[in-house]
Amino acid sequence: MTETWQAVEQFIVDELIPGDPALDAALERSDQAGLPAINVTPNFGKLLSLLARLQGARRILEVGTLGGYSTIWLARALPDGGRLVTLEADPKHAAVARKNIDGAGLGDKVEIRLGLALDSLPGLAAEDAGPFDLVFIDADKPNNPGYLEWALKLTRPGSLIIVDNVVRDGTILDLDGDATVQGVRQTYAMLANDPRLEPTAIQTVGSKGYDGFALALVTSEAS
Ligand code: SAH
Ligand code: DHB
Ligand code: MG
Repeated sequence: MTETWQAVEQFIVDELIPGDPALDAALERSDQAGLPAINVTPNFGKLLSLLARLQGARRILEVGTLGGYSTIWLARALPDGGRLVTLEADPKHAAVARKNIDGAGLGDKVEIRLGLALDSLPGLAAEDAGPFDLVFIDADKPNNPGYLEWALKLTRPGSLIIVDNVVRDGTILDLDGDATVQGVRQTYAMLANDPRLEPTAIQTVGSKGYDGFALALVTSEAS
């Protein structure tokens, strides 16, 4: 099915998502710099942007920047004065992202914090950088439970939390899976059991293979 999935994704993107110089340049620069092509697809990037607009998001938090492709989609949804903070551990990725984000004219809206996300997140809380209206979790999967924990501290009722890569070719069904699988499975358990969250998850197919994302509405304050 892979070929059909990719052809249909191409059709969707050709029909609905106009070519975009800044986003195309971001992928090109990322590729030139040797970054892995594990950015979101254009149609998922557009969905992130639409969700941020539906949220009326003024503050967005992203965990896992890579070359800033998803960052650009999300930051474009921000109104004047809106702000996006994105966390990245790899200095090379952060440097490429900086160029891509500046190239998209979003430099004044986006702050890239270099370092392990679990080290940066307490600082955001200490500075009162939140509450964030939307959080996109897309970094190292074994740490997803920690990221979700922090996302809950940094959001408010009505915020949206999105977690990428929650299907991973179906490997998440494996009870004895690796650290990534365990991290993702634990994330499901947290989403399911936390009374502050109203969750779902959607499977996706296309140029990035068979995967999916989870989406949860924050419905109430921590008790
Ligand atoms: N959101 C991006 C893709 C992110 S890929 C997009 O769709 O365009 C995952 C990124 O997380 C990589 O750049 C990787 O370097 C970063 N990462 C991995 N472990 C991390 C950690 N512990 N803290 C912060 N970033 C991390
Ligand atoms: C990987 C990470 C991602 O965030 C993604 O969207 C796809 C793959 C990975 O680490 O393999
Ligand atoms: Mg991802």
